[in-house]
Amino acid sequence: MGILRSTFISLSEARQLRSLAESSSIGKKLSRRFVPGLEIEDVVASAQDLNRRGISSTLDSLGENVSDEAHAQRSAKTYHTMLDKIGELKLNANVSLKLTQMGMDLKGGIAERIVAGLVDHAHDVDSFVRVDMEGSPYTQATIDMVRRLNQNAKSSGRVGIVIQSYLRRSESDIEDLCGQSIPVRLCKGAYKEPSDVAFPDKHDVDRNYVRLMTKLLESGTYPAIASHDERIISQAVQYVKEQNITPDRFEFQMLYGIRRDLQRRLVAEGYRLRLYVPYGDAWYPYFMRRLAERPANVLFLVRNLLKS
Ligand code: FDA
Repeated sequence: MGILRSTFISLSEARQLRSLAESSSIGKKLSRRFVPGLEIEDVVASAQDLNRRGISSTLDSLGENVSDEAHAQRSAKTYHTMLDKIGELKLNANVSLKLTQMGMDLKGGIAERIVAGLVDHAHDVDSFVRVDMEGSPYTQATIDMVRRLNQNAKSSGRVGIVIQSYLRRSESDIEDLCGQSIPVRLCKGAYKEPSDVAFPDKHDVDRNYVRLMTKLLESGTYPAIASHDERIISQAVQYVKEQNITPDRFEFQMLYGIRRDLQRRLVAEGYRLRLYVPYGDAWYPYFMRRLAERPANVLFLVRNLLKS
């Protein structure tokens, strides 16, 4: 892992820096590069604007690792409000959530009850819940929970998961998930992982991404190819053309604010694109992971700050 990448990932976990950054006006301003706003109205307006441009979205209320049930229930309430908005405004949108935000670290199956309620709600408003993937200590528990949720008749097809190509285990996970028709979003992975768990070399992560992507396009259930890597996206486009896989059988996904040129190009070429649109005041860890992916973003932000 590059030094800059691991520095930014470590900074994403620094609690004091986080509270300082999230409460400062400069911090809030900088976060706008990757987060459209702090309020639910901001994310809904963003989803409407994207729909007008032929792009769907997955809405995320920022937050991770809650330490008590009341906090988990507050997170759940926010997601129910987002699903109500999706239903009322008939948005072409769904939601993405993190299990630690729903109480995964707490005892008594709280997270599973909360997420089951959200998946039911998603069914009622004809939407979908994507469970994001966090660090590797949560991988197996996340897969197990999504599998159990998907077995419920009402939830089936309304809940999906994320698999990270940097993890050595992902190929066998993808085979199992394809066998159970669980929709998978494939990404490279954004956390700091030991080398016995994840490939330390970026070339291996990229090579594994292409291998897993091909498997998903062949036998996955409506897979989501989540990447801004132009080379990988070209390979996906070439593969679906060769295999006559029509654009309604999968979608590309990207993060709000990243590679807008590539986003426009894919939509113009007739491919489905969904943007991950986060909002809220707990933006700091998400923001630092985006800097970790591309440290050149820091220069971009500093230039913007100097201009304003
Ligand atoms: P890579 O990092 O190799 O970047 C390829 C190119 O994309 C760069 O050269 C640059 O042009 C552009 N780029 C990438 N990141 C950028 C940035 N931050 N700023 C500007 N340009 C950038 N991870 C995870 O662990 N769990 C999850 O649940 C999710 N969920 C998720 C959803 C969606 C829709 C996306 C797109 C991504 C995720 N991720 C994630 C994050 C993912 O694991 C990964 O860290 C980023 O997508 C960056 O990887 P790329 O595939 O873009 O390639």
